[in-house]
Amino acid sequence: MTARAPLIAPSILSADFARLGEEVAAVSEAGADWIHVDVMDGRFVPVITLGPAIMKAAGRHTTKPLDVHLMIVEPERHIDAFAEAGAAVITVHQETCPHLHMTLRNIRKLGCKAGVSINPGTPIAAIEPVLVDVDVILVMTVNPGWGGQSAIQSAIDKTTVLREMLDARGLHDVLIEVDGGVKVDNIADFGAADVFVSGSGIFKSDDYAATITAMRAALAK
Ligand code: DX5
Ligand code: ZN
Repeated sequence: MTARAPLIAPSILSADFARLGEEVAAVSEAGADWIHVDVMDGRFVPVITLGPAIMKAAGRHTTKPLDVHLMIVEPERHIDAFAEAGAAVITVHQETCPHLHMTLRNIRKLGCKAGVSINPGTPIAAIEPVLVDVDVILVMTVNPGWGGQSAIQSAIDKTTVLREMLDARGLHDVLIEVDGGVKVDNIADFGAADVFVSGSGIFKSDDYAATITAMRAALAK
């Protein structure tokens, strides 16, 4: 069991991009802990979203930490730009990093928290060597690329195993983050996590504050 407070991280992937600043401000006022920024390059995943310039502009509308999820190939070429644009957390995918340890170390050198992510089809063993080098482990609970998908149970199950592995190593400060398919009615099923990303679950709801409050209540049960 963890003493860490659950953190809610709305994913702006499902926000109205024409009003991105307002949307970021709205979820911040509604109780978001982090703002999750999905960066996609049309290569690692088919979709293209946004880069550091747009993130920096959006970041002017919040004081919450920007949690940057890089779904891009060769992320090491872009971490400086995202750090410069205001990232608090930069997460790279294990699947895109042949020199994962070095990339994570360089993220920390830039003053950001370092995160590593694994797709639903990637085993935990792929990141075991770097557990001591990360601040955040982002477990993808859908295949990355789109919002609005249903969570994959075998991916959710990884969070429990990960927690045991972290505890066994005394790594009690590493946060486990889940991303994909998180909604009010199922958030409690992701209970081994510390950070709960939700895109459509929050931005497609009518009342962001009520939704975030309901998510916290479901986790507190
Ligand atoms: C998917 C992104 C997610 C996405 C989640 O590739 O990494 O952050 O926004 O969307 P929902 O919460 O709608 O599944
Ligand atoms: Zn994401």
